[in-house]
Amino acid sequence: MIKRIFKAVLFDLDGVLADSAMEHFKAWKKLADDLGIAFDIDINERLKGVSRMASLDILLEKASRSYTNAEKIQLADRKNGYYRTIIEQLSPDALLPGARDALLACRDMGLQTALASASRNAPTLIERLQISDLIDYIADAGAARHSKPAPDIFLMAAKGVSCDPQACLALDDAKAGVQSAKAAGCFVIGVGDRETLDEADAIIPNIAAFRPADYCR
Ligand code: BG6
Ligand code: MG
Repeated sequence: MIKRIFKAVLFDLDGVLADSAMEHFKAWKKLADDLGIAFDIDINERLKGVSRMASLDILLEKASRSYTNAEKIQLADRKNGYYRTIIEQLSPDALLPGARDALLACRDMGLQTALASASRNAPTLIERLQISDLIDYIADAGAARHSKPAPDIFLMAAKGVSCDPQACLALDDAKAGVQSAKAAGCFVIGVGDRETLDEADAIIPNIAAFRPADYCR
């Protein structure tokens, strides 16, 4: 691995630092059950990194009728209510193994840290996980004009820590997230399997395998 000078690390949250992909799934599944729509873990894979409304559109592909925009907003709000009820009960146990150490390793190397999550619930979640003190900036998913795979959220995160995207390492577990960070110009580490995340510059199986020193000179 050729080492470069990096100034910041931009983290996706759900599925990278937090074990919250399953909590999103549970909330979507509850909504799907309310509506009598088939929904399983395979369909959920397509929702990773995807915004709330775009996720709802995917869930509704299997619906037997169409929904108006007003109805869709209500359904997305209902899912968000389910999700918030779940995450309000989370503790630091919901951090993925190695997540806290990864953030501490960034601190030790003098790297800035930012969140580039598509989730508008990211601020609540990092409070619950008790990692707010290890994150210098949280890009506001609600302020991004275009969601992942567009580069907006990673560009906002880089700007938030006053770094060129080219000087940022980015970590994401979703195809849309890897594409977003690539489009922003970051060096992208896919967290998961090579097949899904083939556009990443490097792959690690999980956050426990992230060593910033492997990439930074
Ligand atoms: C992403 C998740 O991080 O955030 C998606 O991978 C989720 O599954 C998206 O839909 C939006 O989250 P929220 O909390 O704003 O509904
Ligand atoms: Mg993710």
